[in-house]
Amino acid sequence: LQQILFKNPNEPPVVFHWFPVIGSTITYGMDPPRFFHENRQKYGDCFTFVLLGKKTTCYVGTQGNDFILNGKIRDVNAEEIYTVLTTPVFGKDVVYDCPNSKLMEQKKFMKIALTSEAFRSYVPIIADEVSGYVKRTPDFKGQSGIVNICPKMAQITIFTASHALQGSEVRSRFDEKLADLYHHLDMGFSPINFMLHWAPLPWNNRRDHAQKTVAGIYMDIIKRRRAAGGEEDAQDMMHHLMNSTYKNGTPVPDHEIAHMMIALLMAGQHSSSSTSAWIMVRLASRPDIMEELYQEQVRVLGADLPPLTYENLHKLPLNQAIVKETLRLHAPIHSIMRAVKQPMPVPGTKYVIPTSHVLLAAPGVSGSDPKYFPKPDLWEPHRWEDGSPLAPTLGRSDEEDEKIDYGYGLVSKGAGSPYLPFGAGRHRCIGEQFANVQLQTIVAMMVREFKFRNVDHSNTVIGTDYASLFSRPLEPANVYWERREKA
Ligand code: HEM
Repeated sequence: LQQILFKNPNEPPVVFHWFPVIGSTITYGMDPPRFFHENRQKYGDCFTFVLLGKKTTCYVGTQGNDFILNGKIRDVNAEEIYTVLTTPVFGKDVVYDCPNSKLMEQKKFMKIALTSEAFRSYVPIIADEVSGYVKRTPDFKGQSGIVNICPKMAQITIFTASHALQGSEVRSRFDEKLADLYHHLDMGFSPINFMLHWAPLPWNNRRDHAQKTVAGIYMDIIKRRRAAGGEEDAQDMMHHLMNSTYKNGTPVPDHEIAHMMIALLMAGQHSSSSTSAWIMVRLASRPDIMEELYQEQVRVLGADLPPLTYENLHKLPLNQAIVKETLRLHAPIHSIMRAVKQPMPVPGTKYVIPTSHVLLAAPGVSGSDPKYFPKPDLWEPHRWEDGSPLAPTLGRSDEEDEKIDYGYGLVSKGAGSPYLPFGAGRHRCIGEQFANVQLQTIVAMMVREFKFRNVDHSNTVIGTDYASLFSRPLEPANVYWERREKA
């Protein structure tokens, strides 16, 4: 009754709930996409719900994505929301522990190491890491077996990303203690830490110790490299950051370089490892597509399957479409939040979002909207081929889209696109191309080694685990594998 009587006509409708502080926390937390879908049907594209006592306004659909992700810096703010989680994990003075203008400069520095020239050198490194991993891992010994694919893909992701982005020295330390330390950093990202980030709990103590130790490892490497003249591993991320200078003339200090190295690896780890796990789960549910992927490589590259190169990846459209289609249905970041800094009128409505609300964008909603994607719930990589009956209606393509420079190079605004797994606007992902190169290489290499199917021969797909900030397959995500007979 209170919710009906005290409804403010200038604010979006509030999702009905029984208990004041808990509000919709449980229904949202159990299955965010379902929560968005059901409430969109009831209340329209813009509605408010109570998340741990906070009024959270969700605006879904392409207009909502644009309203939030392309919001002006004076209206919306990301760092106020994320800093409690990210600063203890990454360290001080980077990403969300600094003004937005500094983050934009840092993104520019990090982007310099993510060029096609760099990617050309990354593909063989990633390919070797994958084949080395499947050779030495006991769960992949023999001719066939069953494996919980999630932890395996998490390891493959960290080995490939650390080796490609941070060089062989950092990579070799992942065989020793660095893997455990990163695991402790990970625990800092559990959603409970939005409330308990400060508490002297065992996992927070481990997080703080790991942050200091990992940053110390990077800073030692930086010092040693400086002493050696700075020419070592000339193309890697650390080298680029060591040679970057802020607009005010200050070179990037060593502790910031170390913290950016942590931030980059953490940003990519969860999203890429969740996506690669979903790809393997999906392939196990569609062995026919896994076979097509193998045949695509044989047809395009030749039956002897030469070593993979960056150029080769461009010749494998189905391999590319697998990544695209998996991110459409399983974007690991389901909710993107912003604090509201000024009352924000929603164009075309009578609503004004007050500063007491948090805004939530969920681009996955438009990514599974039948308006743009025929049979949206169907995982069908062939829909990305020209002339497919299931082809999406995307409006302007990425190339045609309006471009904007926030300080780290031109990025497409993505304003009208229903497909935004990498976000849009000033906080848009800079790791998109790296993630594509990494994921496409991992898929191509796994397809060369294995045939997958579901353990029970079915086409069913496991549910999603939403318990951490990045969604991923529920575990155990068991996959039956068989070694491929090589010609
Ligand atoms: C930002 C998704 C991989 C680095 C973002 C955002 C999304 C996203 C949705 C926007 C967040 C927001 O607006 O609040 C993904 C997905 C990935 C992926 C789906 C893989 C499949 C990577 C990788 C890296 C990376 C591999 C690093 C090499 C970043 C950075 C930001 C970002 C630095 C900027 C954060 C900001 O400006 O606030 N990513 N990402 N990401 N991502 Fe990624």
